[in-house]
Amino acid sequence: MSVESIVQAVYLVAAVLFVLSLAGLSRQETARRGVLLGMTGMGLALVATIALALDRSERPVGVTAGLILLVLLVGATVGTWRARTVEMTQMPELIALLHSFVGAAAVLVGFGSYLSEPATSGADAGETVHLVEVFLGVLIGAVTFTGSVVAFGKLSARLRSSPLLLPGRNWLNLAALVACAGLLWWFLADGAAGLVPLLLMTVVALALGWHLVAAIGGGDMPVVVSMLNSYSGWAAAAAGFMLGNDLLIITGALVGSSGAILSYLMCKAMNRSFVSVILGGFGAETPAAAAGGPAEPGTYRETTALEVADRLTAARSVIVVPGYGMAVAKAQYPVADLVSRLTARGTTVRFGIHPVAGRLPGHMNVLLAEAKVPYDQVLGMDEINDDFPGTDVVLVIGANDTVNPAAQDDPASPIAGMPVLEVWRAREVVVFKRSMATGYAGVQNPLFFRENTAMLFGDAKEQVELIVQAL
Ligand code: TAP
Repeated sequence: MSVESIVQAVYLVAAVLFVLSLAGLSRQETARRGVLLGMTGMGLALVATIALALDRSERPVGVTAGLILLVLLVGATVGTWRARTVEMTQMPELIALLHSFVGAAAVLVGFGSYLSEPATSGADAGETVHLVEVFLGVLIGAVTFTGSVVAFGKLSARLRSSPLLLPGRNWLNLAALVACAGLLWWFLADGAAGLVPLLLMTVVALALGWHLVAAIGGGDMPVVVSMLNSYSGWAAAAAGFMLGNDLLIITGALVGSSGAILSYLMCKAMNRSFVSVILGGFGAETPAAAAGGPAEPGTYRETTALEVADRLTAARSVIVVPGYGMAVAKAQYPVADLVSRLTARGTTVRFGIHPVAGRLPGHMNVLLAEAKVPYDQVLGMDEINDDFPGTDVVLVIGANDTVNPAAQDDPASPIAGMPVLEVWRAREVVVFKRSMATGYAGVQNPLFFRENTAMLFGDAKEQVELIVQAL
């Protein structure tokens, strides 16, 4: 049996493992198994691809093996170091940066593939297909590359997060696409001297990726990251076509389509249409709101950890609603401790998780799983929203936009229509935060001024620890 056919068989096994991995990742209980299956698939894919590269190597096998080992070592060292040091709150920016690598790889593979198999003038059908693959691969890769770099810059506060609103920006994007179509025609017509249109298109696509993401601001960044995840998948699939690598095509298509589905689900969770996210502009209000701070609609009531401990002792049902602030404070461990103590006393305690709480999909679920909170205590927004009226105390721990009643009551609010956790319908609400500052969307939260709301100021971790002590 040839190395080639063994490699194809291994690719097939790896592809099946990737599909099973995605299926596993869709539920908390099976997520760990999903990750293991994905790692096994990727390990097999790497070994098979290296075996194939050595088998096809035109230079001495030792040299090729040495080169592969060198890049693997560099990549694995940098990757391991970043993965170990990155804070959970920096995860979205790391993901954005990783997407930019996929985009850059697709561009390089495209140029490599074009230069190593230069087209002849009067290309036949097979050659035309190859040229189109190269062109599309470089186009998607370049858009993904600069788009991801801008997303990384915005998420890590290296670039301003407000949208860049150039006059006629949608026309500019359209003009860039039309220019790319014209360059494709030139590229195909002039196969042998196609490097010029290919290079010109790369410049246009890099600018397009930059502009597309620069025009999107504030609250829409999470959708952009998952959209770029989808683009990076299609870029990888395009690279797979260029390299004739079936596994890369399958993997790219899996990433591309799952990223697209995730983007759609997130748009639904934030009540934004996908098209309006892509066309950008949302979030322009954020800097103004953050700078001046919107007017406070009334007075608020402050409470103490001791008082909250008393309320919790008397309560029969409690819902904990965590948000980004719990991640910042790393409060998940004392929160888990508090919940297990209350549960042991016979209080019904559950968590209510908003689909976009925190800064990345599943952010809260990951933190709570880390703190070993039982999965059956963790409910999604739709599962728990009807239970607030019968609840004695709701602890809002570092959440803000996701519990903002203005999303329902104020049609002029930038988050109008976004589904929210209706915590104010409970008997009492305690909001843990450090100040009266706004949340991610930069909008005032009328919840803080309601009669049944009390504010517990301070770092969420410290306050929860004080409550645990008092209990
Ligand atoms: P946010 O609305 O961002 O509010 C977080 C709150 O935590 C802030 O009000 C902040 O108030 C408080 N906080 C920060 N550090 C704290 C600490 N150490 N101790 C106590 N409180 C602390 O959070 P959310 O409700 O989770 O909503 C998420 C928002 O982010 C949504 O607007 C969503 O659209 C957006 N977003 C989501 C994602 C995804 S995919 N999940 C990604 C990017 C953006 P103080 O500063 O006063 O303490």
